[in-house]
Amino acid sequence: MNRKTGDQSVSEKLERAREYEKNRQNEISSEEKPVFHITPPIGWMNDPNGFSFYDGKIHLFYQYHPYTREWGPMHWGHSVSEDMISWENLPVALAPDEKYDALGCFSGSALEANGKHVLLYTGVSRQVLEDGREEERQNQCIAYGDGISYEKSSKNPVVTGELMPENCSRIDFRDPKVWKKGDTYYLIVGNKNAEQKGQVVLFSSKNLEDWKFETVLAENSEGKVGTMWECPDFFALDEKYFLICSPQNMKAQKYEFHNGNNSVYFVGDYDENTHTFQKEMPKTLDYGLDFYAPQTTELPDGRRILIAWMKSWDACVIPEEQKWQGMMTLPRELHYVNGKLYQKPVEELKNYRKNSCRLENQEVSGTVQFDEVKGRILDLTVEICEGVFDEFCIELAHNQEYTTSYTYYRKKQIMEVNRTYCGVTRDIVCQRAWKLPEQKEPLKLRFIMDRQSIELFINDGEQVSTTAICTPMEAEEIVFCCDGTVKINVEKHELI
Ligand code: FRU
Repeated sequence: MNRKTGDQSVSEKLERAREYEKNRQNEISSEEKPVFHITPPIGWMNDPNGFSFYDGKIHLFYQYHPYTREWGPMHWGHSVSEDMISWENLPVALAPDEKYDALGCFSGSALEANGKHVLLYTGVSRQVLEDGREEERQNQCIAYGDGISYEKSSKNPVVTGELMPENCSRIDFRDPKVWKKGDTYYLIVGNKNAEQKGQVVLFSSKNLEDWKFETVLAENSEGKVGTMWECPDFFALDEKYFLICSPQNMKAQKYEFHNGNNSVYFVGDYDENTHTFQKEMPKTLDYGLDFYAPQTTELPDGRRILIAWMKSWDACVIPEEQKWQGMMTLPRELHYVNGKLYQKPVEELKNYRKNSCRLENQEVSGTVQFDEVKGRILDLTVEICEGVFDEFCIELAHNQEYTTSYTYYRKKQIMEVNRTYCGVTRDIVCQRAWKLPEQKEPLKLRFIMDRQSIELFINDGEQVSTTAICTPMEAEEIVFCCDGTVKINVEKHELI
């Protein structure tokens, strides 16, 4: 049943979700939230959705279940920003209120078409089969809006599994990413084949509503890249093409792919006429503990920006009493230089720096703290210069009880994050080690810290490691330790 509000028809489910988060009783104090990372107003958040520029603003939607801090029937929450650092919460955009999306409005993307803001998402429903059994179906649906309210098309679902060859799953068929080239719209969707191997399928359309299956754009041919490829994204960047996806159930290989459900990228060349994508081997996007389902958008100024869910499906890193769960990473600008993908915090972050200090050529031998270098909401760069040592460690969000450490093992060229003492009270993964790109000193470590997270950008974004923490704010010391002697430069800016 739909109720009319102004000239927009709003379903009961959508109205209920909007009212629920407006209810003062459900309000969460801003002190309990990150300062510049997106979080749900209340309840649960996962994947970024519909990351796009529309009507002068950057929009970010997200998988949202306001009523509990656990995953539940998916809605689309909505935030907007002018600079990707300060975000404003807008009314819930989609609720699972139609037969074709009754089990959830799953992930998807957005673009502008004919002046409208267009959302493409996965509608999850149950279908009764010929033999009477019920089976889940995932189909792609469309909604049109003005940047605040969205109306689902009467033609939904616009892309069904029936359009694909027989051996493509109709159950695991989700997370459409749309783009336009010339006069044609393209859509890729995450999928798996009958052998339980992940793949990405490509469709095309002239009008966004009538779609044609084109091809399997990429697949897990050797079987090492997971069972289902979630949240695919595909774009050109610096003369190459990039396919990003989040394969489920993937085994670790040496220092790569340790997250079980991973997020990887493939670099390659794409023939637009034949839709063939020649790809290299997959690479890790982020070496931290909390990074999944990234999505990118291209801004009007040409920058390709990536944002991801700053959480792992397998870990809960929040205090018992917290009523919300899930954050987004800081948006990152992507570049491909000399065969390497760089991710760096968006430049706009620099406008929020204050109380800066720079220390040059400081000797660290044993354990050292600097009076000016402490805090929890920081943009902190440490350059590790010459020295005679093997281990160098930085302890953040530190006091007598808590700490999260980053250790550089110089001989092995390994970096390790350890959040065992960040305040977690569950038996979750707390340590991750990875191989640094190549022996290169000074090694530059830029930490972006917010109340509940630490994002480490190594050598201007050559590698990134994103990790959630749950440490009380009074733990704000920063400690440097070295098993020999080293010279470091430190630049610290408080943020906001
Ligand atoms: C990825 C994912 C998507 C799906 C969504 C459901 O984290 O599993 O594939 O659309 O979450 O919330």
